[in-house]
Amino acid sequence: MGAHPATEPPASSPAIGFPSGSGDLHGARVVVADIQDELGASLVAELGPDASSYVHCDVTNEGDVAAAVDHAVARFGKLDVMFNNAGVSGPPCFRMSECTKEDFERVLAVNLVGPFLGTKHAARVMAPARRGSIISTASLSSSVSGAASHAYTTSKHALVGFTENAAGELGRHGIRVNCVSPAGVATPLARAAMGMDDEAIEAIMANSANLKGAGALKADDIAAAALFLASDDGRYVSGQNLRVDGGLSVVNSSFGFFRD
Ligand SMILES: NC(=O)c1ccc[n+]([C@@H]2O[C@H](COP(=O)([O-])OP(=O)(O)OC[C@H]3O[C@@H](n4cnc5c(N)ncnc54)[C@H](O)[C@@H]3O)[C@@H](O)[C@H]2O)c1
Repeated sequence: MGAHPATEPPASSPAIGFPSGSGDLHGARVVVADIQDELGASLVAELGPDASSYVHCDVTNEGDVAAAVDHAVARFGKLDVMFNNAGVSGPPCFRMSECTKEDFERVLAVNLVGPFLGTKHAARVMAPARRGSIISTASLSSSVSGAASHAYTTSKHALVGFTENAAGELGRHGIRVNCVSPAGVATPLARAAMGMDDEAIEAIMANSANLKGAGALKADDIAAAALFLASDDGRYVSGQNLRVDGGLSVVNSSFGFFRD
């Protein structure tokens, strides 16, 4: 789902945001913010209206983002965690000559301007409290090129730069700022971007991870990483891009040195 202003540790969404069938909020109270109103409402019904709330929020619209943050504080009294998770793949365009300026700007608007706005408005209410954890979902494409379109790769590389700079500014207010970077997870976004079904996506990813025997990467794995960054277990971690990709982004297996 889109942004997740949360008090105490975060939850996630039906896709990467919430692990499937999970009603465990780890004690958090959560505002789910997205543009898919029906999905958001059904998620809040599942989580329980006492611990969760849904607001319509287009993360490219500053007024929507500011209102979502204000809603979290009004409803639950404070904001401890912001999870900037909304993202779009954009069209799977791999020839620059065929990519449009409008598509490029749209991907940057959601994937980069969205986390900027989420971070800006979360920091507005976290700084006076002198604590907070802001997490954005970047991607394997934040550090590996050639795995997605120009627009998507650009947006995720830039998101890491923004995260590091934001950590630099906000550390003095006690606010941690980090990214979590998944490899491929079978979600609506990945199905659209890769043009494959879940089984094919999971097979490709299990095969390309350097780590063997762990099976497919699941949304729950990303939620666990985000939970670590949100919780006090990660209390000294800031400015990091936590890659959840079985080593795919850091091992170049084409040298072939590590073989049985
Ligand atoms: N699935 C993958 O393989 C993968 C890999 C790396 C990174 N990611 C990142 O994970 C995040 C979640 O993606 P997902 O795979 O769960 O995809 P998804 O399409 O299932 O979920 C994306 C969510 O973002 C919401 N959204 C889109 N535009 C929005 C907007 N303007 N305002 C508010 N909400 C908006 C959608 O409604 C949807 O709920 C994204 O940032 C994506 O780039 C995904």
